[in-house]
Amino acid sequence: MPGLLPPPPGGWLATMSGIDRAAGPAQIAAEAALDRSPAPELATATLRAAFDAAFGPAGGSPTGPGDVDVVRAPGRVNLIGEHTDYNDGLVLPVAIDLEMRIARRPRADRRVRLALAATGEIGEVDLDRIGAPTGTWIDYLAGTARELATAGLPLTGFDGVLASTVPVASGLSSSAALELVSAWALAGPGGPPADPLTVARIAQRAENGYVGVRCGLMDQFASACGVAGAAVLLDCRSLEHRVVPIPERVTLVVAHTGMPRTLGTSEYNARRADCERAVAVLAGLEPSVRSLRDVDRAMLDRHADRLDPVALRRVEHVVDENDRVIATEAALRSGDLDTVGRLFAASHASLRDLFEVSSPELDEMVEIAVGVPGVVASRMTGAGFGGCTITLARPEAVEALRTRILRDYPARTGRTPRIWVVAAVDGAGRAPK
Ligand code: GLA
Repeated sequence: MPGLLPPPPGGWLATMSGIDRAAGPAQIAAEAALDRSPAPELATATLRAAFDAAFGPAGGSPTGPGDVDVVRAPGRVNLIGEHTDYNDGLVLPVAIDLEMRIARRPRADRRVRLALAATGEIGEVDLDRIGAPTGTWIDYLAGTARELATAGLPLTGFDGVLASTVPVASGLSSSAALELVSAWALAGPGGPPADPLTVARIAQRAENGYVGVRCGLMDQFASACGVAGAAVLLDCRSLEHRVVPIPERVTLVVAHTGMPRTLGTSEYNARRADCERAVAVLAGLEPSVRSLRDVDRAMLDRHADRLDPVALRRVEHVVDENDRVIATEAALRSGDLDTVGRLFAASHASLRDLFEVSSPELDEMVEIAVGVPGVVASRMTGAGFGGCTITLARPEAVEALRTRILRDYPARTGRTPRIWVVAAVDGAGRAPK
């Protein structure tokens, strides 16, 4: 999230309030331990109690005492297809059980009061007067509300409490989760009256146009359209998507480098600009080119000398990465995990050498993981510039992987890792009662 500090080991909600907590050795050890979700702070009973604490049983709400229900939206981890979404390409994300949840009670008026469970800080929005962005977390809700209204969808005021286990600035799409959980909280009991893909596109517009980050569709798509037990392959041009089951006996492990991923910085937008510059040159030579999706290896070879060296590297990555998504889908379907491992390795190398979005910490984390027997595949995930890796491991290898990361990663980098075993979950909706 732009303008916010990196998350402290104490949790993302403290960071959202601008409070940074120094981590002592005991806290570091605790944070480095294996986190398992779903976490107790997301439990419906916990959220209801937090709601009562924030607003009281009657809450001063014009509706008086009423039913409090809970809506949820997951973060995501991308298996492969990085920096391809804004090039009309292919992505293969998984919605994960690191989530945001809001316990909310509708109001009769058009106000929103949303309290952070961790700190009690309250953000407010008047749905009839959504002003300019404030540079804080409430912008994600305000921007989503504005775009929902622009799309003609109804909005409901509410009082709510937000809890989260999605770490901020980590490449796990806390922004998209906040947009999608907001969309559900702003809707009536049946959820937004539009299909999940449409809601995802509305949320993306909120992030592009209101928050001001030129992200592609992948994160919002994953948070809205995720499928339990599976990754979902999205064609970002046609918007066709299909479910790709995660093979049995493959565990997803997310490892945080301890370095925040600062998507709000100029680097992400600079990569987009590199790609757009390449499209402008190639479109002048080949009328069929509207985006890098229309470029293949043969075309690239024909015109390589017309591109500046930076643009050429970016295009090479995108062209091959799209192919790797399709190849990964096939390998996952047939259970060919050696091939998945090779494809992940090639993707990571390409992101490091051609797209230049990896970091020494991400490279170390991947190197440590792939050295552990029983690890199937590992690569950086998300935008890069810090954040997390995704590792596919045999279940019996997870403990050794954890031990190895906790032993070797701090020694090699001086940073404190965080490790989550995550499960693939459904996209945004109402939480189980
Ligand atoms: C961020 C963006 C996505 C995508 C990835 C890189 O997560 O929000 O749209 O571009 O980076 O694959």
